[in-house]
Amino acid sequence: YGDYNQKIDYVFKVVLIGDSAVGKTQLLARFARNEFSLDSKATIGVEFQTKTLIIDNKIIKAQIWDTAGQERYRAVTSAYYRGAVGAMLVYDMTKRQSFDHMVKWLEELRGHADQNIVIMLIGNKCDLGSLRAVPMEDAEELAQRENLFFMETSALESTNVETCFLTILTEIY
Ligand code: GTP
Repeated sequence: YGDYNQKIDYVFKVVLIGDSAVGKTQLLARFARNEFSLDSKATIGVEFQTKTLIIDNKIIKAQIWDTAGQERYRAVTSAYYRGAVGAMLVYDMTKRQSFDHMVKWLEELRGHADQNIVIMLIGNKCDLGSLRAVPMEDAEELAQRENLFFMETSALESTNVETCFLTILTEIY
């Protein structure tokens, strides 16, 4: 998309949040660069990547922010959420605790982000289906109650990764 640099119609900031090791960094790596790493290290502070795409004939630059799930590595929270128009709340579908913590992450999000932010709940690692610890119904119920979009993904197998980013970006647009 190099030729389009001058003509970007919108820049959308989307933040990734959720417990450590649920796969936030790998979801972003898969979406932005079509890469995946099995020995992904914990994120320290904040990183972001951009990807330019076309939605509805408009050139949209998605700026996706990734932060540490571990408290001790987290950067200043309000700066992270500033200007965000979308949020992806990620849990690991093989780790019940990471799903139970979604209410805590939602609380933080609602306390810091814009009221109109579009939120998607993501159950990652669906390639590990036999280890499932979070029934789809539980996630759907939470999504319905809190007015979130919901999808299960696999950064490893590329399942729904593109779709979930496109869905949130289209909804923002
Ligand atoms: P923090 O940076 O500590 O917040 O963690 P994170 O949420 O960014 O997790 P990260 O992307 O670093 O992934 C943690 C581990 O899960 C790594 O070993 C990844 O390779 C693995 N992982 C990520 N996504 C998937 C997936 O879809 N399937 C499987 N099987 N493993 C995954």
